[in-house]
Amino acid sequence: MRAKRSDSGGIAWFGLSTRARVIVYNKLKVQKSDADTYEKLADPKFKGKLCIRSGSHPYNLSLFGAMTEHIGPQQTEVWLKGLVNNMARNPAGGDTDQIKGVASGECAVAVTNTYYLARMMRSTNAADKALIEKVGVVFPNQSSWGTHLNIAGGAIAKNSKNQGNALKFLEYLASASAQNHFANGNNEWPAAKGLSFDNPALKAMSGGSFKSEVLPVSAVGMNQIKVQQMLDRVGFR
Ligand SMILES: [Fe+2]
Repeated sequence: MRAKRSDSGGIAWFGLSTRARVIVYNKLKVQKSDADTYEKLADPKFKGKLCIRSGSHPYNLSLFGAMTEHIGPQQTEVWLKGLVNNMARNPAGGDTDQIKGVASGECAVAVTNTYYLARMMRSTNAADKALIEKVGVVFPNQSSWGTHLNIAGGAIAKNSKNQGNALKFLEYLASASAQNHFANGNNEWPAAKGLSFDNPALKAMSGGSFKSEVLPVSAVGMNQIKVQQMLDRVGFR
């Protein structure tokens, strides 16, 4: 993978690693097929059973902005209202807290980024191991638009005084060895295609590969203000 010059003369940004925004469920309480799409999280059958962090967190603004692209703003607002109706508790904490809520039975389903899950799966802490045993993972929307991804990327500012070194650094981050660090050090999927990496947790949770959503990041970003307004209207904290 190489950095490219954009049409405007600057250097285009490019992705370095990805994390998937997945659904986790309590294996004793939920059938995987009942929670295999983002839409199903708003199903009244999950009333009082959903754990999710603040709607205004960038991970959720990104997911909800993507939903707006897929199903339109009106349906997205109805869906968000459904999520609020289903909440087991007011949004609080990070994604790991939502996973723990599912494991403890406080909630039956939750939304998390994959690296938090992988971190618990690879933990040598006995308490973490016991918790994660109770939790199943589903990569949502495999039969439709695919699972939402958060992307970490890099770029060089036009006014950078060290263009050459900055480019070398980005190319290093895209190299096989650095991409392996993203996979094994931070439990993320390397953005470089065709790279073999060895992270047992990532392989175990995804079964090796999965369908991911394809959307322009700019479109998702453009929806953020609209989404924040929807969150305010439906009372999603
Ligand atoms: Fe994070």
